[in-house]
Amino acid sequence: MQLIDGKKVSAEIKAEIAAEVEAMVARGEKRPHLAAILVGHDGGSETYVANKVKACGECGFKSTLIRFEDDITEDALLQAVDQLNDDPDVDGFIVQLPLPKHISEQKVIEAIDPNKDVDGFHPTNVGRMATGLEGFVSATPAGILDLFARYNIDTKGKHCVVLGRSNIVGRPMAELMMQKRTSGNCTVTVCHSATPNIPEITRTADIIIAALGSPKFVKADMVKDGAVVIDVGTTRVPDATRKSGFKLTGDVDFDNVAPKCSWITPVPGGVGPMTIVSLMKNTLLAAKRRAR
Ligand code: GUN
Repeated sequence: MQLIDGKKVSAEIKAEIAAEVEAMVARGEKRPHLAAILVGHDGGSETYVANKVKACGECGFKSTLIRFEDDITEDALLQAVDQLNDDPDVDGFIVQLPLPKHISEQKVIEAIDPNKDVDGFHPTNVGRMATGLEGFVSATPAGILDLFARYNIDTKGKHCVVLGRSNIVGRPMAELMMQKRTSGNCTVTVCHSATPNIPEITRTADIIIAALGSPKFVKADMVKDGAVVIDVGTTRVPDATRKSGFKLTGDVDFDNVAPKCSWITPVPGGVGPMTIVSLMKNTLLAAKRRAR
């Protein structure tokens, strides 16, 4: 079994981005600028956004965090989105999800200028990704493709089973793994909450990408020997022995599954850091496109 070290790869990519940014600035170009809107005080969202702001610093980007309380109206949030759409200094921005129940996430996503939609959530970018056109690809799937590439993991012709069909991970992941591209070109099966025989299907997988948000769902008897296992899960499971009071737990029963795998990602330190680095790559791409 070999570990896929997302922390190490993400540090390498951040250093590559930082070097490119310094070269841009030395040429007199603008420093890339990422803005983030955070609504409310959800613990997970607070951590994700803080990590995104920290990564901006490491990449030499300017960052702006805009915070609202969770009683903000949908109209006021849409106005804030419009302001960022119109702000010439902002190259890209994100609205951290989930949003409070009284706000339509879809409406907010569709209000974002697709050219600044570095999350790749706008239907224009989803459609461009699905048809293989250049655009912003959703950060977690893009990060996983980078891991396959950096570790030279051969995916061509393999059976890839994606667990989960969310708009953020499962759906774009399945699409990308199916496409005729490096780190793709797989036969893809998507399993979800209505799939009756998941273990039977995962046992035929060369590659399993688990994105269900169900702690330790993937057990050793669901995995064939030599499989590649990618764990996207990051559920906060209560743990009284930790200062934070919780333990980030993946969708894979790591201790029992790892010995059967050729490659596996840990949680934390696997997919998570790559998601953030993909957002940085999208922001750099946005800045370059705007400079053209
Ligand atoms: N919530 C969970 N993941 C993400 C993400 O990648 N982007 C945004 N905006 N919100 C999220």
